[in-house]
Amino acid sequence: MSTSIETGPAHTGRAARGDGSRGPMYALGARVPAALLTLGAAIIHLFVAGPHFTEFVPFGIAFAVTGLAQATLALLILAAPGRRVFAITAAIAAGCLVILLLSRTVGLPIGPYAGSPEPFEVPDLVTALFEVLALVFLALLSAVRPRPRRLGWHWLFGAIPTAILLTGLTTAGASAAINPLPASVDMSTAPAGPGVTSMDQLREAPGDQPVRAFTLTAEVVRIGGRDYWTYNGTVPGPELRANVGDRLRITLVNHLPQSTSIHWHGLRLPNAEDGVAGLTQHAVQPGQSYVYEFVLKDPGTYWYHSHQHTEEQIPLGLYGALVVEPEPGVNVDRDYVVSRNDYSGGSGTLHLEANPGDLVRLRLLNAIAGDMTGTPELLTLAGAPYKVVALDGHDLNQPQTLGPERLPVGMGQRYDLEFRMPAGTSVQVLDLRPRTGGAVPLREWATIGAGAAPTAPSDSIPIFDLTTYGLPAPDPVATRGHYDVSQDLRIGEQLGFRYGSALPKAWELIHTFNGKSFPDTQPIIVKEGDHVRLHIVNDTSEYHPIHLHGHIMSVIAKNGRRISGSPVRLDSVLVGPHETWDVAFLADNPGLWMLHCHVLIHAAYGLSTMVSYQEIHTPYTIGTRSGDFPE
Ligand code: C2O
Ligand code: CU
Ligand code: CU
Repeated sequence: MSTSIETGPAHTGRAARGDGSRGPMYALGARVPAALLTLGAAIIHLFVAGPHFTEFVPFGIAFAVTGLAQATLALLILAAPGRRVFAITAAIAAGCLVILLLSRTVGLPIGPYAGSPEPFEVPDLVTALFEVLALVFLALLSAVRPRPRRLGWHWLFGAIPTAILLTGLTTAGASAAINPLPASVDMSTAPAGPGVTSMDQLREAPGDQPVRAFTLTAEVVRIGGRDYWTYNGTVPGPELRANVGDRLRITLVNHLPQSTSIHWHGLRLPNAEDGVAGLTQHAVQPGQSYVYEFVLKDPGTYWYHSHQHTEEQIPLGLYGALVVEPEPGVNVDRDYVVSRNDYSGGSGTLHLEANPGDLVRLRLLNAIAGDMTGTPELLTLAGAPYKVVALDGHDLNQPQTLGPERLPVGMGQRYDLEFRMPAGTSVQVLDLRPRTGGAVPLREWATIGAGAAPTAPSDSIPIFDLTTYGLPAPDPVATRGHYDVSQDLRIGEQLGFRYGSALPKAWELIHTFNGKSFPDTQPIIVKEGDHVRLHIVNDTSEYHPIHLHGHIMSVIAKNGRRISGSPVRLDSVLVGPHETWDVAFLADNPGLWMLHCHVLIHAAYGLSTMVSYQEIHTPYTIGTRSGDFPE
């Protein structure tokens, strides 16, 4: 190697022109990546500037200015390199990294999230990666003395793959940046004004019904070495029982570190009592309390759960059963709710008493599955023949005894069973669902009565079909010739970015109704008295229990074939892979009502829409401004 072309610092200011060399050169092998990385960060900063403008103007300006400065510096690194350019670029990158670190750990002193850490999202990850790497190359450039030399082509070998990789990452970061958490979404069907009803007014009229009052305190409790979010210290929360016609008054006291709400799943109640954060109320803040009050219209098995950050709060333990007893009482000897019960750190099996000869009603509730695939539990009863007497709280007509079968209970659904307690052996509620991946189903949910364990049925007994069970009876909502509103709901999934794709869940596919994810889904607009028909088509290979708030849906047909057994009324319809279901309901409960998949992660990834009555206003909003996120 010749040392003669090396120049000392005294010569670095001038290029030796005319001899083919471009003289004192900062290595392109370092400048190209430094420039591309800085440009990538610039692009993402410019993309996030937009959403930030709507949230907090100074942050929008800061991101725009930073992005423009970085874009300029990236060009200078290529066109007019020098230590000053490198130093300024490095200072901006370091400053961005410090601000990012502070905002994601202790929180910034100003802005919409002042004082609390912000979620770490894909654009943050990509920009941080770019800036750290840019700092490495800028440090190299500053440390190594420039030298005059011929401009070769070898740097292209590194630069081309780098450019391709960085383009991909920049595209991902920018796409995530333009799909951020919404700032303020208003689900009203009309702005407040004359002729428009505020849903806040849609409350129970005063009356002299017997009042049943309960207090539910949401609090963090350590159970079996793990922290749960509980109602009154237990998971599930206390089983609430009342009679049809009672006036239920529930005080929610929030002792959690986060805001919360309670939704009354399956009940037809006034819209203002529906408990959906950002839609029917502002979430109840830590330290505050809130009173729900409504009259129980329909007997049956229901449940209650948080509807603020639902996907996180239900799995932490915020749910419980609500049983509304019919007028003459439940005509059985024993009446129990059974849900998955492995939260105590113990075996998980619930032991229930019954004597031989007792007529037992079991209300099976699938509140939360062991995994989030949406696959239903496949529950069966071992040890006694049984009937399915109600689905989602609504009685079936003339149910026959099953022999046995596996009951596909989707998330959110309830199956009420009745059986006669045998002499000699106990009866067991078993989950015959096969293992999926790492998730191990809890096989034994409950044991009823004393005595030896019954012989378990084979894992391949038939699957219960609600479309052919029981005997026909009139269901005017399901058998009408004409519907005022008919709506197709196609369930799909696609790659995409949602809510900035907050890590670590960025790999979940976006779920869509008719190609759109919530809150961009098209609401189903109805008016009071409409008969509404939904044609639900599942274009995915997953199960989706589609749940409607505040109404009862009658099943018309599955896969185009009209149901032939008992009328079936549900609040959650389990739509299997590539199945088609037709259901209908009477719009008799004005308000703004969610319609969503009850697989919580599907709802959180967009599978949610609304049944909205015309001319209804909500004063609440969903998004970062209110902090209300119903999914
Ligand atoms: Cu059980 Cu919108 O929920
Ligand atoms: Cu509900
Ligand atoms: Cu789903």
